[in-house]
Amino acid sequence: MRIYNNYSLLPHNTFHLDVKSRWFVEYESEIDLQKLLRDEYFMSQAFWHIGQGSNLLFLSDFNGVIVHSGIKGIERIREDENHVWLAVGAAEDWDAFAAYCVEQGWGGLENLSLIPGEVGASAYQNIGAYGMEAADYIEEVQAYSVETGEKRFFSNEDCKYSYRHSFFKEPENRGLYYITQVTYKLSKKPEYKLDYGDLEKKLKGKTINLQTIRKAIISIRKDKLPDPQIEGNAGSFFMNPYISRIYYERLKKQYPDLPHYPVNEETVKVPAAWLIEQSGGKGKTLGGAAVSEKQALVIVNRNQATGEEIALLAEEIRKAVWEKFGIELQPEVNYI
Ligand code: EPU
Repeated sequence: MRIYNNYSLLPHNTFHLDVKSRWFVEYESEIDLQKLLRDEYFMSQAFWHIGQGSNLLFLSDFNGVIVHSGIKGIERIREDENHVWLAVGAAEDWDAFAAYCVEQGWGGLENLSLIPGEVGASAYQNIGAYGMEAADYIEEVQAYSVETGEKRFFSNEDCKYSYRHSFFKEPENRGLYYITQVTYKLSKKPEYKLDYGDLEKKLKGKTINLQTIRKAIISIRKDKLPDPQIEGNAGSFFMNPYISRIYYERLKKQYPDLPHYPVNEETVKVPAAWLIEQSGGKGKTLGGAAVSEKQALVIVNRNQATGEEIALLAEEIRKAVWEKFGIELQPEVNYI
C-alpha cells in the first residue's frame, strides 16, 4: 500500500487542476484494501475513490483521503464456442483493455475505444459511445462495501444499469463501494454496431472488422473531441437529457432542426451539445475555462482555470439552456 501526505492531484485529474489532497492512498491488493477499510484513522475522514480522474472536477483542495486502486490483471476465466469471460482488475487502463480485446478478436468494446479512464470506472458509470455501453457486456462486478468492509458480488441486474447510470451512482450508494474487479463477457462472433453517427460513413469502402472499427472510432474521437493532453477536460461535461415525446414535439415546432434519439414510446434523448450551441454556449469563456469550439459538450481548461471557474461556466451554460429550452442539464462529471 502506498500512502502520501499533502499530495498533488495534478496527474490524477484530466482537467489538470493543481489541487492537493490531505492523504492519497493506493492499494495494490484486496488484502491492502481490507486493511485500509479497517483503519480507523483513515476511515474517520472524508474519502473519495478515483480512477484516472477523467470524469472529476475538484472544486478545491480535498481535506481527506483520496483512494486509488492498483489492482490489475486480465484473466480468461471461462470460454465456450461463442463467448469469452474476462475478469479484469479495476485499475487496468480502459483503452489498453479495449485494444487487447480487439487484438484477440473478441467483440463488444470496439466502439468504446479511446475512452479515457480505468476498468473500475467503466462499471461504476456505465461508459458509452457510438451506440454501445459497457453494461451490455458486464457479467459481474466485485466490490468492497466501505461500511462493512465485506466483498460483494453484483450481477449485471444488481448493477441497475441505464444511460451513464448504475447502482453505484445512486445517491444512497455513492462512494460506498470500491470496485476491485469486473467480469466482461465478450463475443467470439462479433456483431458490429455501425449505425451511430458518422461511423458507417467513416468505414465506407473499407473491410469491416474489429480492427478497422477501432481505428475509425479513434479517428472520429480525435477529430471531434479536444485532446485532454493539450487542453485539460473531462469529456462530456453534461449528460444528454431525456425529455417526453410530447415536449419534444412542442419544441420541434419552434426548432425544426432539433436532433433526437428515441428512447422508448414516451421518451426521447436530445443532444446537450446542440442545446448548448443553440443557446450561445459554444466558445464561451469564464476565467481560464472555456466551452470547446470543437464540441459544445466539453468544457476545457484553457488557461490555468480553477475548479470553481469551470463550475461557474457550467452553471452559466445550464442556465442558458434552461431559459431557452426549459430543459435542465445534469452534469456527467462528478464534483468533488
Ligand atoms: N452537436 C452540436 N454542437 C456540437 C457538437 C454536437 O450541435 O458542438 C450536435 C450534433 O447535431 C450531433 C449531436 O449534437 O448530432 C450529438 O453529438 P455527438 O454525436 O458528437 O455526441 P454527443 O451526444 O454530444 C455522446 C457521448 C460522448 C460519446 C458520443 C459518441 C454523452 C453525454 N456523451 O456525445 O461521450 O463519445 O456521444 O457516442 O452521452 C463522454 O461521455 O465523455 C463522451 C465523450
